[in-house]
Amino acid sequence: MADALQTIMVERLGCRVPIIQTAMGWVAEPALVIASCNAGAFGFLGAAVMTPDECRAKVLAVRRGTDRPFGVNFHSFQPGADAIVELIVENREQVRAVSFGRGPDAGMIARFKDAGIVCIPTVGAVKHAQKMVELGVDMICVQGGEGGGHTGSVPTTVLLPQVLDAVKVPVIASGGFADGRGLVAALAYGAVGIAMGTRFLLTRESPVPDSAKTAYLQATTDAIIVTTRLDGIPQRMIRTRLMDRIEKSGSLAMWLRAFEAGRAMKRQTGASWLDFIRSARGMTAHGAMPLKQAMMAATMPMLIQKAVVDGDIEHGVMATGVVGGRISDVPSCQELVDRIMAEARERLAALGVPALAA
Ligand SMILES: Cc1cc2nc3c(=O)[nH]c(=O)nc-3n(C[C@H](O)[C@H](O)[C@H](O)COP(=O)(O)O)c2cc1C
Repeated sequence: MADALQTIMVERLGCRVPIIQTAMGWVAEPALVIASCNAGAFGFLGAAVMTPDECRAKVLAVRRGTDRPFGVNFHSFQPGADAIVELIVENREQVRAVSFGRGPDAGMIARFKDAGIVCIPTVGAVKHAQKMVELGVDMICVQGGEGGGHTGSVPTTVLLPQVLDAVKVPVIASGGFADGRGLVAALAYGAVGIAMGTRFLLTRESPVPDSAKTAYLQATTDAIIVTTRLDGIPQRMIRTRLMDRIEKSGSLAMWLRAFEAGRAMKRQTGASWLDFIRSARGMTAHGAMPLKQAMMAATMPMLIQKAVVDGDIEHGVMATGVVGGRISDVPSCQELVDRIMAEARERLAALGVPALAA
């Protein structure tokens, strides 16, 4: 009897359940990746905000903490991207997959594939999914507009079937998932698994300080907004006093924020102004964005870091998916994965679909 929950994603990634813990800057750190992988899911280390040295140390930390396969997320425009690619390939015996937004070309994708590393870009539009498949990726992670971080406007319920119709590679559903009902719904659409960010952010092993976790737990769906004021690109955030000020602020205030955050980022990374403007331009609009927007894009991560690393929600911003508005607990990764799988089995049983007991 085939088990509906043992999908091709589970087989290819070497995890036990069709659930991905997605990359989140400063959140998808070794502790979370280790816990999600040990719980049976597939965790991605959020290396898009790491220097190559930090990434090396953190890949090693994950390898020390689990013998399960895991993934690494990066941007091909980030400073030191080439060194990070080398590092991923060097660790191919345990780094089973890479995830990225737009960026890698066919050559880089072929390099990963030759090393046996599964390439799973996250896309928010049908045409990006098609482009990525042309470039040779193995699977697609579709993030609907409900999703956390940078987001599009088409909801998962519409975008997922569109992408499933448009590509032939396995598709993973993302944006708005938090439970077993969502998992079974995604599988019913034809996806091979779900990827969750916000739900994993609110687990015990997530390194986000309690003050920020509390603010996440308190936010209702009404308190989750999409803003373009941080870097010009729509992003989902928890509405706070700071977010309200940012929403109302004029051009000068945006410049000042970009400059302040840029100085902090220079201190932290040692990158030059040119380095991170170049990186932001590459990351977001392939060089087409105005300078102020590029600076905001480059420095915006500092504002997120303030909240999710320092727990300073007065001065930092909190990226979230809409689903954050219905999450009310902070389980361990193991409890979360077990619960989702039990719910999924219950739903499948109600539908008369075979799924093996845990
Ligand atoms: C706090 C936060 C930080 C994020 N950082 C990144 C990141 O660094 N790179 C990335 O590709 N996606 C990032 N994302 C998006 C997530 O990886 C994921 O695609 C999204 O959260 C899925 O939607 P969900 O939150 O509804 O599960 C982030 C999301 C959140 C909530």
